[in-house]
Amino acid sequence: MKVLLLGSGGREHALAWKLAQSPRLSRLLVGPGNPGTARWGTNVPLQADSPEAVVSLARRERVDLVVVGPEAPLVAGVADALAQVDIPCFGPVAAAARIEGSKAFAKEIMAEAGVPTAAFRVFTDAAEAEAYAVAQGRIVVKADGLAAGKGVIVAPDAKAAREAVRAVAEMGQAGQRMVLEELLEGEEVSLMALCDGERYVLLPLSQDHKRVGEGDTGPNTGGMGAYCPAPFLTPAQLAQVGEQVIAPTLAVLKKRGTPLRGVLYAGLMLTASGPKVLEFNARFGDPETQVLMMQVDEDLLPLMEACAKGTLEPRPLKQFPGASVGVVLAAEGYPEAPKKGARIEGLDAVASNAPVFLAGVAKQDGALVTAGGRVLTVCARGDSLATARERALESADAVRFEGKHFRRDIGARGLRARP
Ligand code: AMP
Ligand code: GLY
Repeated sequence: MKVLLLGSGGREHALAWKLAQSPRLSRLLVGPGNPGTARWGTNVPLQADSPEAVVSLARRERVDLVVVGPEAPLVAGVADALAQVDIPCFGPVAAAARIEGSKAFAKEIMAEAGVPTAAFRVFTDAAEAEAYAVAQGRIVVKADGLAAGKGVIVAPDAKAAREAVRAVAEMGQAGQRMVLEELLEGEEVSLMALCDGERYVLLPLSQDHKRVGEGDTGPNTGGMGAYCPAPFLTPAQLAQVGEQVIAPTLAVLKKRGTPLRGVLYAGLMLTASGPKVLEFNARFGDPETQVLMMQVDEDLLPLMEACAKGTLEPRPLKQFPGASVGVVLAAEGYPEAPKKGARIEGLDAVASNAPVFLAGVAKQDGALVTAGGRVLTVCARGDSLATARERALESADAVRFEGKHFRRDIGARGLRARP
């Protein structure tokens, strides 16, 4: 099979690494890719969020399957355009990807599907929102529109709630409509499923680390590391979450005529009264994918093809025993103002069984230099979470660039859960 993978981050490097291991792969194109994906496929210049550009490349190269990494091509309608020319696509049509793009739409689907989620109310009047927030005391305030990751404020008391509503109201367009939501407590985990529009196969439960600092402190980031499997649910409980969250959501999207073919990602809070959905994404998570790809012990390509064609057989996925850990090495100044251009060294010293997935990296005069906030993810698998973590940290120390910072506590919550 000839496959075109869209994207250019650490997630795509991990997907390319995994797809390249498939005996069924004849050729892998990555558009536009990065210096890491170039090792496993052929990078092609491409504006991945242009449906015309993707269709034209896919036709010219006669690809058998397009795999979409990031959200932007989905929202732009790349899957819709590919469907029109009968090229199978792993990644949903724009109307289904809205489950990620609009919080209000996601809540609407959850309500219709009976998916457990935080109680919420939508406000368009800031004064009304403020009165409600102060009366509730503990609350989460969310801008309805996209606000560059800054649109969610968790307010633990009435004073914080008042300030949060005022801050969101000042966010311009994004803050004109806000969602006020019950503050949930518990472990925050990521559950992803490979979906064919109706049926699904669950990937192992994983946990991201969103704050920049150890002990979950400091500002939010795109994710500073992940591990899987996250040991907070038994296999039976996990299957139950699949039945309560993934299955009904797929059913509602299908009923609306916009089946989700690709990944359904549920950000879950494991509360005292059961798992509740915080958010949906219509794509693989980053950096969760880096560790998921390490942990999956079977060929991913036939699964992706089955999802794209609507012929997936529901069954448990084969996984390696033990666990995998991925530690993100971030650039100086990340997340506020990441510095670029630092030379990356020590990659050769990392053991060959411990992949390093590149993200914000560019090639300059034959050398690799930093070119983004999250520079790369060092990964390792071990027969236990503790060994995987030790190995990943060894690699994190071995790779060097000026201003490098990372969290040494990736996986610590999982270790505490199962001593
Ligand atoms: P979201 O963009 O909706 O995923 O929210 C970003 C982050 O805010 C999540 O990853 C959670 O850590 C936190 N968060 C969102 N909603 C809630 C909630 N209802 N209760 C507690 N924390 C939340
Ligand atoms: N790691 C969170 C995300 O990909 O949205």
